[in-house]
Amino acid sequence: MYQTSPPEQQVQFYNIWAEKYEKEIATVKYRAPRFAAEALALVYPKERDNALVLDVACGTGMVAEQLQILGFKNFHGIDGSEAMLKVADSKSLYQSLKKCLIVPDKPLPVSSDTYDLVIVVGALSSGLLSPDVLPELLRVTKPGAYLCLTAKKDGSNYMQQLLASMEELENKGLWTKVVEQQIDHWQIVLLKPELGSGYTAGLVTIYRKTNQ
Ligand SMILES: C[S@@+](CC[C@H](N)C(=O)[O-])C[C@H]1O[C@@H](n2cnc3c(N)ncnc32)[C@H](O)[C@@H]1O
Repeated sequence: MYQTSPPEQQVQFYNIWAEKYEKEIATVKYRAPRFAAEALALVYPKERDNALVLDVACGTGMVAEQLQILGFKNFHGIDGSEAMLKVADSKSLYQSLKKCLIVPDKPLPVSSDTYDLVIVVGALSSGLLSPDVLPELLRVTKPGAYLCLTAKKDGSNYMQQLLASMEELENKGLWTKVVEQQIDHWQIVLLKPELGSGYTAGLVTIYRKTNQ
């Protein structure tokens, strides 16, 4: 199992950051929600207005903002930070927003086989969600429906662990990879003080849950 910081601690950090989050991440050119939407635009079927989307670790709602441009209209969001959810709620894009800590082996507060698209942007990351949450994301996805997951390279072995967990689920026949797109200029990260800042790479993956 991949070890992450205590989730309560992470969420507390986002509670404090929520009001300034969007302004500050713009300064590091955080565009992950847009990258995810651009990848989905190419492969997700055109009938989108009836699709039910679960935005996992939805934060302030930047993902729903991008997906509505593609024609999606029905959004449920879950996140552990009350303050981030409050900002998301102010955008009036989500029909349901639930506060919940997402940790391995704890069921998400949603029914099985429910969503046409499950999306996680910016939270499958070292110190945030463990790759061990993937089976639970699959559980709530409808058979034949899509999951869109992003991750950034951060110098830890998180990405490796995540890719290994994804491959394991594919080898078990639980989902099939539709897209794996590496993006070199994912966002700016602070390197060592003497090196300044530079872009790190990131990844958008899209899977389809198998019909079983
Ligand atoms: C970098 S933000 C991404 C938010 C949004 N998806 C976006 O792209 O702007 C990470 C989000 O994950 C949430 N989060 C981190 N760890 C969590 C956990 N264990 N359970 C629930 N939410 C968590 C934080 O509260 C925060 O809103």
